[in-house]
Amino acid sequence: MKIAIIGGGPAGLYAAILLRKQRPDAEITVYERNRADDTFGFGVVFSDATLDNFEKYDSPSYRRITQEFAYWDDIAVHFRGTVHRVGGNGFCGCSRRNLLLILQQRARELGVVLHFETEIDDEARFADADLIVLADGINSRFREKHIEDFQPEIDVRSNMFAWMGSTRPLDAFTFIFQETEWGPFIAHAYQYEAGRSTWIFETDPKTFERAGLAGLNEKQSADRMAKIFGWFLDGHQLLTNRSMWRNFPMIRSKRWVKDNMVLLGDAKATAHFSIGSGTKLAMEDAIALAEAMQHAPTVATALQQYEQGRREEVEKTQHAADVSLVWFEHVDRFWEFDPVQFAFGVMTRSKAITYDNLTLRAPDFVAEVDKAFARQVRARGFDIDVKKPLAPMFQPLRLREMELANRAVVSPMCMYSAKEGVPGDFHLVHYGSRAIGGAGLMFTEMTCVGRDARITPGCAGLWNDEQEAAWRRIVDFVHTNSAAKFALQLGHAGRKGATKLMWDGIDRPLEEGGWDVVSASPIPYFPDSQVPREMDRAAMDAVKAAFVAAAERGERCGFDMLELHCAHGYLLASFISPLTNERTDAYGGALENRLRFPLEVFEALRAAWPAHKPMSVRISATDWAEGGITGDDAVDIARAFAEAGVDLVDVSTGQTVRDAQPVYGRMFQTPFSDQVRNEARVATMCVGNITTADQINTILAAGRADLVALGRPHLVDPSFTIKAAAWYGAEDVFCPPQYQPGKEQIFRNSVRDRQDFEDLKIKAKPKTRAELKAEATKPLAAE
Ligand SMILES: Cc1cc2nc3c(=O)[nH]c(=O)nc-3n(C[C@H](O)[C@H](O)[C@H](O)COP(=O)(O)OP(=O)(O)OC[C@H]3O[C@@H](n4cnc5c(N)ncnc54)[C@H](O)[C@@H]3O)c2cc1C
Ligand SMILES: Cc1cc2nc3c(=O)[nH]c(=O)nc-3n(C[C@H](O)[C@H](O)[C@H](O)COP(=O)(O)O)c2cc1C
Repeated sequence: MKIAIIGGGPAGLYAAILLRKQRPDAEITVYERNRADDTFGFGVVFSDATLDNFEKYDSPSYRRITQEFAYWDDIAVHFRGTVHRVGGNGFCGCSRRNLLLILQQRARELGVVLHFETEIDDEARFADADLIVLADGINSRFREKHIEDFQPEIDVRSNMFAWMGSTRPLDAFTFIFQETEWGPFIAHAYQYEAGRSTWIFETDPKTFERAGLAGLNEKQSADRMAKIFGWFLDGHQLLTNRSMWRNFPMIRSKRWVKDNMVLLGDAKATAHFSIGSGTKLAMEDAIALAEAMQHAPTVATALQQYEQGRREEVEKTQHAADVSLVWFEHVDRFWEFDPVQFAFGVMTRSKAITYDNLTLRAPDFVAEVDKAFARQVRARGFDIDVKKPLAPMFQPLRLREMELANRAVVSPMCMYSAKEGVPGDFHLVHYGSRAIGGAGLMFTEMTCVGRDARITPGCAGLWNDEQEAAWRRIVDFVHTNSAAKFALQLGHAGRKGATKLMWDGIDRPLEEGGWDVVSASPIPYFPDSQVPREMDRAAMDAVKAAFVAAAERGERCGFDMLELHCAHGYLLASFISPLTNERTDAYGGALENRLRFPLEVFEALRAAWPAHKPMSVRISATDWAEGGITGDDAVDIARAFAEAGVDLVDVSTGQTVRDAQPVYGRMFQTPFSDQVRNEARVATMCVGNITTADQINTILAAGRADLVALGRPHLVDPSFTIKAAAWYGAEDVFCPPQYQPGKEQIFRNSVRDRQDFEDLKIKAKPKTRAELKAEATKPLAAE
């Protein structure tokens, strides 16, 4: 077999090694345009898990790599004169140059032919090769040449960065967030061998411009960085090696294979340096390719298997990298944070590390995080313990005069079980049990302001006396038997009205018994949905009046809070999104116009709703669709509602148009809550695939939301909050006297369960290489 590999970086060399081990008779040649020891960059970083993989696939190179390594366990975050260290991270650094020399030597030993200073510009010269590996790096000429087949997407990110080195020794992966006269600079630094560390500097484009870096050469910009970070560099120099400032390109390719050619490493997909995974991904691609080549009957099937089998892992890493890079791009959002909360945000930015996970590894750090959170709560007038505070989830919150005992919320959820809009026994049990379950706040399902405002025939309403009496019975039960506050969500279905019950076909039009629907513009939801009537001024006035009348009824029922539903493509949302609003009058066009009617309704409600009771608005912070609402629009929308007196923005997303492309995942809407909260400076509630109390604490402690709502988890577990309270020892959680023995038991058992869980986790966790090395080099204690 003949294999040609274009590019002698980590991907190309490691692929050559593994393929040659498998096929000692194969003719494998690597073509590299640079000289053998001519390498840019300084150190590379691998996690313990990646090194385990290297050990499994080629132990000679693994051994040589790890001999040269620097190990560290801690991450240190420097911010505004403070430093916070978190242990248990298990990382290793090595020089990129040594890594390449080790891989070259190993490849040669195995009989791979290496051609240096050989630039390949046409794959035609490998016409007789069975396999051509395109490992030609981030600017891959071959990916671009076959752009139609590989279909790359290149997202050039806004921040500027430059790789440099230093002789400054470091004993932790070090993040330094530095304020300067021009704006914030960030250093990501780690040691990779004795006396050598990598320094990646990053800043936003405006700070870059203000600092005049565009006009400086490599040496001058290194001098500028040395001056900014001089207090930390401690007299050590910064070293350069092609250390030009650039923008990071996030590369994704739709296809990785064309005929017998395959993309590997940076050529096919990149991962931002803030999660240190570029070289890891490149070498693990080589492992995946070698695995596929080992087992598949033909090269063509091997390449297919490589692409299919590897894609998910690469996309997962890229997603984590995306989330992380966005955090760094928006670091100014958190600049005013308490330093320990800021450090917690750095640690938990890409979702892999959580509150509970840090509690195991760095209990003192989490105790500080809890205290900082509690101090903020105390500053708002709550008499709470700040020395040994409860976890953030169990800290109270006040909105106007409404006080919530904790931050867990039952999200609004239609039950499709009302008769002519009247909530019945099902609703009493449903809301009653969830309130008793301990959530601080509970929302009603979308409660419709008129018969024709309903989504389905099963939707609850609040437009007549019978409905008012039925809701009052439920509110009374909740207030008598629980500590939960109860918010009424009012809405109008708009063009998504007159549709079937959820279990008969969500958003599908009713076949009979429907009613006329209205919207901002006459655009049907599905092509076969009813075409809505475009609302005229009279219709708007009527709808506004219906909202106000329902709010007045809500007040008479005794609800504690009112939410206006402006999300999910319903009537008010249809005004806000440009995808559903094509009006040419004062209610269409710019966002300011599209917001006009929803704001009018909000203001009318605010005037009618008692001043001491809070109001929220639910928005779709993105339409997940081309040309639709984006996170930046959501900030403007939130600001407009905040000016009109909103107390909380309930940040949801999507459901505006049927061809949206949401990116689901754990806590997938939280970044929007983060953006709205920390840019518009308004309290937010986040929601969406949040399933554990650990996630709730992580979100709250990092300052990404003020309240956390759970929808589906509450459908199957009304007692979610009381169980979490037992786990975190929040003894004050409300429990009705009838259920007190159950509470006592779960609290007693939880202490032991938690201890068992922690012991198990600690036992199951293998020692990091840093810990093993520290143990091996520890002097024996004197007897
Ligand atoms: C300036 C810079 C500095 C970096 N520094 C670091 C660092 O310090 N630490 C770290 O972890 N990561 C660093 N990275 C990222 C990291 O290098 C990559 O993620 C990783 O090397 C990817 O491996 P690869 O084999 O896919 O690509 P590369 O390492 O880029 O290797 C591709 C190779 O192909 C060669 N090549 C390209 N075209 C041709 C051609 N037509 N013919 C022949 N040869 C060709 C190139 O010369 C190169 O050697 C750096 C990246 C850049 C751009
Ligand atoms: C059965 C069901 C009904 C829902 N009804 C409503 C509703 O009436 N009003 C609303 O704003 N959101 C509604 N939602 C959306 C939820 O409030 C929540 O935003 C969504 O389920 C995501 O959160 P989760 O992942 O915790 O379930 C509903 C969700 C479900 C599952």
